[in-house]
Amino acid sequence: MTTPTVTITDNATGKTSECPVLVPTYGPRVIDTKNLYKDLGMFTHDPGFMTTSACRSSITFLDGDEGKLFHRGYPIEQLAEHSSYLEVCYLLLYGELPTKTQFEEFEYQVKFRSNVHERVNHMYSGYMYDAHPMSIMVGVMGALSSYYHEALDLNDPVDRDLTAKRVIAKMPTLAAQCYKYAIGHPFVYPNNSLGYVENFLNMMFSHPMNTYTPDPVAVRALEVMLILHADHEQNASTSTVRLAGSAGANPFACMAAGMVTLWGPAHGGANEAVLHMLNEIKTPENIPQFIARAKDQNDTFRLMGFGHRVYKNFDPRSRVIRKVCHDLLEHMPANVNARVFDIALKLEELALKDEYFIERKLYPNVDFYSGIILKALGIPESMFTVMFGLGRAVGWIAQWLEMMQDPDFRIGRPRQLYVGSRQREYVPIGQRG
Ligand code: CMC
Repeated sequence: MTTPTVTITDNATGKTSECPVLVPTYGPRVIDTKNLYKDLGMFTHDPGFMTTSACRSSITFLDGDEGKLFHRGYPIEQLAEHSSYLEVCYLLLYGELPTKTQFEEFEYQVKFRSNVHERVNHMYSGYMYDAHPMSIMVGVMGALSSYYHEALDLNDPVDRDLTAKRVIAKMPTLAAQCYKYAIGHPFVYPNNSLGYVENFLNMMFSHPMNTYTPDPVAVRALEVMLILHADHEQNASTSTVRLAGSAGANPFACMAAGMVTLWGPAHGGANEAVLHMLNEIKTPENIPQFIARAKDQNDTFRLMGFGHRVYKNFDPRSRVIRKVCHDLLEHMPANVNARVFDIALKLEELALKDEYFIERKLYPNVDFYSGIILKALGIPESMFTVMFGLGRAVGWIAQWLEMMQDPDFRIGRPRQLYVGSRQREYVPIGQRG
């Protein structure tokens, strides 16, 4: 069978380029424009990569119009219901769900590496007492690049695999340390007798003066939140990891680069922005006024936690997390945050009924609910993006591993549409008018 092609004709010169059409398992077909410059002397122009595929990937598929998300072919709803976060990590890294023995070995390998070098603990004191935890996370994650020299041969699959396990193992420890540093409490070392999520909660909330017993409903809510954030194909932070990794950079430094991108409010910073917005709204009576501002073209205010670049239908993660969120709020005793939760639920209800949001397909996204869940778990707002990063780290490292094995792997180097000055002569400073 001949490969389908699309012919691109330059009407100015009459030259053509036969571009092969690549057929994915799912999703739109992709025009391979690699030869366009050779054939026509032209680049493609696509700000924001709205219609550009930058790599082949077999990890995650999402369909924004249909509201579907699969990891390695498994629907996110099934993974969230039946799986643990660590099992999803295994799936993303190795492509298959593990057998019981494979899972136990993987869990052991991850737990075995859960501690960080004692010297990392000294890094925190260099940070300002009120530093944002994401700024600390970026730094300590990057600092891991100064360790493990013996196992960082990027061409060695064993070293790469070990790096992936180290990333997953150390993320909860680093994240909890950021929190403990911020509140001035002593660091709590990992406890390998606990599950991945319980261990994290223990490092966050136990204290030498009192024991901490995690609530199973809270553990499950966090487990689901981490699963839902584990990977999301070529989003901004993952693309950053790939781009940095394409230059052959140290993988821990690549993770730090991903963390930097995640910090932006249009990406992982949205869950924190949701809580800021709910606090700003103050009472349910003020909600209509905020909705009106979000609809006003002359106001830059947007409802945080609503809308998504690719989901122009309900975000499938939102369906799952919405239920977990509602269940958790029902389970938790009424507390000081009750007002914030009331506002969140009322805002959700009103926005879902509002023509402006319906017309533009602006539904609550995963960050809307994850922000509320984290608040209910007692995790401070400034830690929310760190929590997103904790879940997403496996996606970053799985995508990095995939890229390192890709025969098409080459340094990422976008082109540009230059619109600056034409060549001109330098004028000495004294002669400039
Ligand atoms: N509140 C009010 N109006 C909105 C919102 C919102 N949250 N989001 C989009 N719109 C409007 C926008 O004004 C535009 O209206 P019009 O067509 O009349 O000009 C229309 O909807 C389309 O917006 P857009 O900016 O073209 O959409 P986008 O796909 O470029 O942006 C987004 C996606 C997520 C950046 C945006 O919806 C947004 O800023 N949402 C709030 C921040 C947020 O919750 N971000 C988390 C994203 S999910 C996390 C992740 O997966 O990383």
